[in-house]
Amino acid sequence: MLKGIIFDLDGVITDTAEYHYLAWKKTAEAIGVPFDREFNEELKGVSRMDSLYKILDHGGIRGQFSEAQVEELAHDKNIYYQELIKEITPNDLLPGIKDFLLECKEAGLKLGLASASKNGPVILDRLEVTTLFDTIVDPGKLKKGKPDPEIFVKAAAQLQLQVNECIGVEDAEAGIQAIKGANMFAIGVGTPDRMKLADWQVGSTTEITLERLREKLGE
Ligand code: G6P
Ligand code: MG
Repeated sequence: MLKGIIFDLDGVITDTAEYHYLAWKKTAEAIGVPFDREFNEELKGVSRMDSLYKILDHGGIRGQFSEAQVEELAHDKNIYYQELIKEITPNDLLPGIKDFLLECKEAGLKLGLASASKNGPVILDRLEVTTLFDTIVDPGKLKKGKPDPEIFVKAAAQLQLQVNECIGVEDAEAGIQAIKGANMFAIGVGTPDRMKLADWQVGSTTEITLERLREKLGE
């Protein structure tokens, strides 16, 4: 029986996926690595350092950078990103998400956040939805990032629920893989071609309601 819902943040609760894209594009192009939306899909859900290594590999220039230089590039990306998220307000919640969160709370479901972003807590604060979440997984304490299921398994444990009592919501292919790896039902926000592994693909967050979810789960 459904008892908990575990959410990704960027691209599910708010459109910060677009800000990550813009900040990575600026970082990549500054070091001569071509960057487009298709390649960006590979970075969704991936931690800051792992994303940067993917970019350096994409440009075939990983060997040209010392560890300290890589740290500096990651730091610069985060500065660009933090500049972009400064003005976030509750108006930046993706359509229908606040209603869905409230509906879940009213139904007594527990809510968790499973985002790889270290900026997650500050973004939830700016969106004024922090108090709706029962738990937030600390991405700094994970051994493995998405597509490994660790973050979703941990979120369920923090909610004191079994994995089969939880479902996950994601917009990244790596995220859907992580949810499925945790043996949970996956809602995928995105196009059908990218959300192939999802149990329920939606084109927009407006489509997600508790009634529809229960129908899909056969409850
Ligand atoms: C999420 C996003 C990724 C981002 C990662 C780390 O998973 O989908 O694009 O790289 O978080 O975010 P951070 O804010 O810690 O750099
Ligand atoms: Mg995401």
